[in-house]
Amino acid sequence: MRIIETIDALQECLKQCRDQGKTIALVPTMGGLHQGHLQLIDEAKSHADVVVASIFVNPTQFAPHEDLDKYPHSPEADKKGLMDRGADVLFLPSVEEIYPENQTSDYEVGEIAELLCGKSRPIHFKGVAQVVSRFFDIVEPDVAVFGEKDYQQLQIIKQLVGRQKRKINIASIGIVRENDGLAMSTRNKYLSASERMLAPNFNQALRQAKLNYESDMVLDQVISRAKEYLGKPFELDYFEMLDANTLTKITTSSADVIIVSAVKLGATRLIDNIVFRRSNV
Ligand code: PAF
Repeated sequence: MRIIETIDALQECLKQCRDQGKTIALVPTMGGLHQGHLQLIDEAKSHADVVVASIFVNPTQFAPHEDLDKYPHSPEADKKGLMDRGADVLFLPSVEEIYPENQTSDYEVGEIAELLCGKSRPIHFKGVAQVVSRFFDIVEPDVAVFGEKDYQQLQIIKQLVGRQKRKINIASIGIVRENDGLAMSTRNKYLSASERMLAPNFNQALRQAKLNYESDMVLDQVISRAKEYLGKPFELDYFEMLDANTLTKITTSSADVIIVSAVKLGATRLIDNIVFRRSNV
């Protein structure tokens, strides 16, 4: 695996690959890698000849009070994990490399960025769109792979690619979970031992909501039951059931439904979702 820190060196390397007729996949990450990230590499390998993974903790997607400064950092383990998994290139740029002065990019995010996580993290998706656009400009991948845990992010990136008329195939993989159901996340490292024991209740609440909905409980009741279940020490940000394709209210024609939620457990923000097909549509 080649480790590259500058845009010029990366583009030179990718030009050689393209000259040999090879296709390129991009897996953008912020490091602190876990099995979920490594499965993104597997997915990327199934789509393209050359897999570029990036590690860049993007400052523009963190609000001043958020965890930018203490975001988990495990560079040696990350390098080993990516190499063992068969990534071809690790791109490790500095902030100056990604955001030189006067660099501009069109990364408008639509209304979808104001919902759900966008309400409590108002600048977050704009920062994500900015850095992802920048990586797309630099790498010009044939395919880019993202995780479905960040479902709203995934929809925003798909819309961005459509709006920017890029010829990039956006692939995704389902949520990778611990044995007890907790969705894998770099931020799980922040949980104390007692919080970690309680954390699976979060996914349990989503699964119970799905069961209740499928046994014809009315939607409002499904949601209020789940909110009751996620009492202290969980601090609820949102718990919603929406049309999975539009992230708006479920209508009679919504075929796919998402149960999506964000909570705080102690100081740690957790997100999770379940997407399923309605049987009666
Ligand atoms: O999902 C993430 O890890 C980040 O939001 C991403 C897509 C790498 C952009 O910084």
